[in-house]
Amino acid sequence: MEQMDGLQVTDCERCGDLVDSRSRIVDGTGPPEADLLFVGEAPGAQEDADGEPFVGRSGDVLDDALREAGLDRGDVRITNCVRCRPPDNRDPRQAELANCRPYLEREIELVDPELIVTLGKVPAEHLLERDVAVTSEAGDVFDPEIGGQRRELLVSVHPAATLYDRSQADTFDDAIATAADYTDEDSGQRRLGDF
Ligand code: URA
Repeated sequence: MEQMDGLQVTDCERCGDLVDSRSRIVDGTGPPEADLLFVGEAPGAQEDADGEPFVGRSGDVLDDALREAGLDRGDVRITNCVRCRPPDNRDPRQAELANCRPYLEREIELVDPELIVTLGKVPAEHLLERDVAVTSEAGDVFDPEIGGQRRELLVSVHPAATLYDRSQADTFDDAIATAADYTDEDSGQRRLGDF
């Protein structure tokens, strides 16, 4: 794919609206061989400014849940379905999701994670290719085919959901704790609780 160099999308102008609204392409972050790959929807304002996924308020919620589960943000890989900030923080359109999908599939192929964790409805529906009732399916693990290979995928609510609805906080924390069980303690991604 000529616009991707390893895990970095170096240049892309497939989505006119997003080229206009973004200030940069926001690639995934974290170790290229992470056991856990978190997939969000699209960058927001803070992510667009900093060039890194989940660095705004949602990112704080994610970081806290990871820490509570004995993990550090630096131990996991975090990316989005769409790498450019949509205008007015609207949801990415189907065409935009489709345009960005080869980059996501390539990232999944290269990282080859033990578990993909979808954060919110958009990534769950995008990767499971069906309607998902995120609140009731949160914590469930599925095995969709992605890029021609079966992958383990855990559904989670979006971290921002816990900011609007405190009852979602336990659902979110439980899903992240389930994800932590998929980390390989011999690969350097140790549970901090072990120390
Ligand atoms: N929400 C997302 O889905 N992705 C981000 O990177 C930040 C917030």
